[in-house]
Amino acid sequence: MKTSITLPHSDIEISRIIFGCWAIVGGFNWGPQEERDSYAALRAAYDSGVNCFDTAEAYGGGHSENLLAKALKGERHRIVIASKVGPQDFAGGDVIKACERGLRNLQTDYIDLYQLHWPNPEIPLEETLGALQQLKDAGKIRAYGVSNFGKKSLDECRQSGFSISSNQMAYNLLFRAIEYEVLPLSIEDGVPVLCYSPIMQGLLTGKFSNWTEVPDDRARTRHFTKDRPLSRHQEEGREELTFQTISLIKRISDEQGLDMSALSLAWLLNQQGVGGVIVGGRNADQARRNVRAYDIPSDPALFEELTSITTPLKEHLGANADLWQTDSRVI
Ligand SMILES: NC(=O)c1ccc[n+]([C@@H]2O[C@H](COP(=O)([O-])OP(=O)(O)OC[C@H]3O[C@@H](n4cnc5c(N)ncnc54)[C@H](OP(=O)(O)O)[C@@H]3O)[C@@H](O)[C@H]2O)c1
Repeated sequence: MKTSITLPHSDIEISRIIFGCWAIVGGFNWGPQEERDSYAALRAAYDSGVNCFDTAEAYGGGHSENLLAKALKGERHRIVIASKVGPQDFAGGDVIKACERGLRNLQTDYIDLYQLHWPNPEIPLEETLGALQQLKDAGKIRAYGVSNFGKKSLDECRQSGFSISSNQMAYNLLFRAIEYEVLPLSIEDGVPVLCYSPIMQGLLTGKFSNWTEVPDDRARTRHFTKDRPLSRHQEEGREELTFQTISLIKRISDEQGLDMSALSLAWLLNQQGVGGVIVGGRNADQARRNVRAYDIPSDPALFEELTSITTPLKEHLGANADLWQTDSRVI
């Protein structure tokens, strides 16, 4: 399996397993987190061959960027930092200011890949992309990309004439919505998809045996009923089908003697159009285990079986590529 790619419109080479720096701040969605575990996770990922780290100002209000800066201070020129600007800062001048804050949080003078976190229909995309191009021309960022850009936003992006280097989307065996529209477009345009929540926030490790065990902040996705207290969608959810699907994946992993999360990551890395997987880890052990996805032997029949058993859930959740909200907010 190819373990690195070069981002288009740049000379940036990234490991295809990317470390996701959201959960290491703990708090909302994740619960208590020891800072020493966060540092250890970042270092273990780096020592295991991960060179790319995905963060955002939104993760702990800059705390995630801070942790990354401190943990890998001596490695700055050997790592690729992917950070994000939030949609509230998409007006041209605000993008520049947000980037300056990011640089301070990250204790660096450049961000390798700067991404638009979510679309913002209130601000013309050309204005935001123009500001990113300005930052690139000034050497403050080396490339720019987008995140959570569904078909509508990608079409706007195409029309803008700016060249994006990546699109970060929710994609995993339990959430395959991007296969309907986003992935074919990405393949056509040569824009690599960087998959977030690739083990579905832990569901694909098999750690929850049924949906009642999943804490409310992790049960906000459209797999779960709208009646969960923190839900922001209006759907019934697919709890039973989700957990039946998890059992089927678990059975296959066990039969093959493979770790379920590593197999889930390997399946993703074998999908056409996927540039990399951004996987979170809360401690050194998780970070090391996730990198073992590279060691899963390529077995087209096995990957096909995983595709087939997860298709009913894909069809029930449909083409809406937003993991958390009903079509009302069209991305
Ligand atoms: N662009 C966006 O809008 C967006 C949205 C979400 C995420 N992201 C990015 O994608 C990254 C990853 O997504 P994610 O954190 O949502 O989900 P994820 O990578 O699918 O799941 C990560 C969580 O699973 C558990 N885990 C990880 N490895 C494990 C292992 N080997 N064994 C057992 N449990 C393990 C950990 O939580 P526990 O130990 O607590 O179970 C960990 O925090 C984020 O860090 C962020 O960089 C981007």
